[in-house]
Amino acid sequence: MLDFELILETIITLFLTLFYIVSGMVKAVLPVSWLPKKDISKDTALVTGAGSGIGRALAISLAKHGCRLVLWDINEEGNEATASEIKRFGGRADTYTVDLSKREDVYKVADQVLSEVGVIDILVNNAGIVTGKTFLHCPDALIEKSMQVNAMAHFWTTKAFLPAMIERDHGHIVSIASTAGLVGVNGLADYCASKFAAVGFSEALTLELHVEQKSIKTTVVCPSFVDTPMLDKCRIYTKYPKVVPVLKIEEVVQKTILAIQTNQEVLCIPKANYALPVLKGLLPCKTFKALLKLIGITGAVSEKE
Ligand SMILES: NC(=O)c1ccc[n+]([C@@H]2O[C@H](COP(=O)([O-])OP(=O)(O)OC[C@H]3O[C@@H](n4cnc5c(N)ncnc54)[C@H](O)[C@@H]3O)[C@@H](O)[C@H]2O)c1
Repeated sequence: MLDFELILETIITLFLTLFYIVSGMVKAVLPVSWLPKKDISKDTALVTGAGSGIGRALAISLAKHGCRLVLWDINEEGNEATASEIKRFGGRADTYTVDLSKREDVYKVADQVLSEVGVIDILVNNAGIVTGKTFLHCPDALIEKSMQVNAMAHFWTTKAFLPAMIERDHGHIVSIASTAGLVGVNGLADYCASKFAAVGFSEALTLELHVEQKSIKTTVVCPSFVDTPMLDKCRIYTKYPKVVPVLKIEEVVQKTILAIQTNQEVLCIPKANYALPVLKGLLPCKTFKALLKLIGITGAVSEKE
């Protein structure tokens, strides 16, 4: 005999699936200004890696949206420069020098932030490094550093700031991952491993919060190459810039802010990258490799002489 509850649950799931597909399609075609957005103007946002590139631009943009900023970076000078820029237009920013590759440092400075600034509403795990070396050329210490900064630091910051978010049932955790967290790329073995970890962590945490019926939101951002100082570490060649573009920081920041405001869980930039995990899962491995070669991914990253 069929279980009545199972049938009912299956029917409800089918209806929800249809509803989410249709609402997702409507959202994708609606003008940005029509989308309902949450108010972040009273939030305190902590951005790691705020001393350069995407982190700096994201921190400045969040401050322009009214957020109070907490800036974390190992590079004190870069971090102070970001704070000065925020203060120049009347924003609020506190700087902390942190080495995210050290768990104890993360916990110590997190405690300092909680007592000096207060609870964090938006946590942006952005800091990252790339070694830019093929696997066998990559020193062990650098491989460990990639894992610590690009992945493990996300565990420690989230452990430090999530409890207060849960207590108030309010908060948003953003992970700046990468397209390299969705597909493996030659020349980026340690980087890909760390970014796959960041994507997996965000996905699992999202589900955990959903099952526990918490209102804390998450967003994982997967951009392809972005024109920041990080790219100085390796040689980047895009065969078809329209298919594999080097994105401008402004585009990544604007789309990330919108994703936070609309509680979007996964943000791939450019949009075509949403297809990558699907194609990887559906196509035979050899076909997928041929496709990566065709669009120029296999020749995109190489070591600097
Ligand atoms: N640039 C790209 O092509 C690209 C593409 C996709 C994803 N991303 C991701 O975007 C994020 C930001 O990178 P970016 O391109 O702006 O690079 P960036 O080098 O300009 O900035 C990275 C920041 O992280 C900080 N940082 C590095 N190690 C740290 C540590 N141990 N402790 C504290 N801070 C540390 C650096 O000082 C720097 O300010 C990274 O997670 C990166 O992996 C970058």
